[in-house]
Amino acid sequence: MRPQSGRWKVADSSRRVVRSEIGCWGYFPFAKTPERVTVGSNVKRIGVLTGGGDCPGLNAVIRAVTKSAVGHHRLAVIGIEDGYLGLIENRVRPLTFDSVANILDEGGTVLGTSNRADPSHYCTGHDTQGKPIFEDVTDRVLRHIEQQQLDALVCIGGDGTMSGASRLIDHGVPVVGVPKTIDNDLMHTEVTFGFDTAVSIASDALDRIRTTASSHHRVMFVEMMGRNAGWITLHAGAASGADVILIPELPFDIDKVCARCLDRSRRGKAYTLVAISEGAMPVGGKVVVDRVVHESPDPIRLGGVSEVINEQVAERTRLECRTTILGHVQRGGKPTARDRVLATQFGHRAVELLISGEHNRMVAMQRGALTSVPIHEVADQQRLIPQNDPLLEASRAMGVSFGE
Ligand code: F6P
Repeated sequence: MRPQSGRWKVADSSRRVVRSEIGCWGYFPFAKTPERVTVGSNVKRIGVLTGGGDCPGLNAVIRAVTKSAVGHHRLAVIGIEDGYLGLIENRVRPLTFDSVANILDEGGTVLGTSNRADPSHYCTGHDTQGKPIFEDVTDRVLRHIEQQQLDALVCIGGDGTMSGASRLIDHGVPVVGVPKTIDNDLMHTEVTFGFDTAVSIASDALDRIRTTASSHHRVMFVEMMGRNAGWITLHAGAASGADVILIPELPFDIDKVCARCLDRSRRGKAYTLVAISEGAMPVGGKVVVDRVVHESPDPIRLGGVSEVINEQVAERTRLECRTTILGHVQRGGKPTARDRVLATQFGHRAVELLISGEHNRMVAMQRGALTSVPIHEVADQQRLIPQNDPLLEASRAMGVSFGE
């Protein structure tokens, strides 16, 4: 609910009151579509948050936003701690040149993050049976934004963070989004920062596993993150020449996987390298759930499908099999140079959007060029690998089996 007093008050259907605090009370016209609000450069104090699962490059964005905003445009930048949780609990701290020094290549996020803090569906406690109680605490968030005198927010995150941003936009808060996720599955951007690093880590793991697979003549299964989208697995698998790639978009037939392993063995190949997404599933089957985080608005955590497949392939083929689950190692450590560059471009562009009054949009990369798209069109959506993806086609031509 929009507060009735303060900066988010809407004067009438086409004009709004903004920035009373900086001494320029006034009506600023804005476009009819909520996605592109043009109010001129009346933004003086911005809040920055990193939401959802962390990924390499978050600090590079925080640095780029802070340096562009403070150095270039003389804005005040307020770092919000632990994503939307910081807005719920009113935990913030100022960001200065000093606070973002030497973080360009640092993994994680200096602001902290949370993937359990959706303000519209926030776990405020547990009932007597231990079941979580969810409440909409958006009012509290709007109050804290007002208390902190934030003119706009930069929300750095994935689809969950963009959904949260979209709801704040509906309450009149100007937001600019920056696309983050190792999964690379945000709509309307062909790349998210963090993806390149995750692919490098996964590809390095596959390369290492190949040598031990070869020594022991084994079938090696390597499981990667990606609940609904198999981008990391497809790219790392292609980069490292995996023999079998199993992704959520293409349900597999276990007989086909076994046949490929046996065929390689019969042809004198010493080993088989299988790259698997955590969200891969057999035709007509289900994903393998590792845990349920009841307090999270998105509670299902996947993991372990590679162990299930390992058992089935070992039993049916009598080949020796081993499994490695990469897990959070894919999200940790230094970002690649490519991700640092992307993060810097995204962070800088986010500030430019705020300054030019192009609010409620997410920075995006399309056909290799920086652009922006309405946050509403990104929220609650996922970009899956299409059937005609060029790398999918190239991999098939290389003889990779997708278990189809
Ligand atoms: O969305 C990013 C991601 O790393 C997914 O690939 C993975 O399924 C999930 O987050 C893991 O979440 P958590 O850090 O809560 O275990």
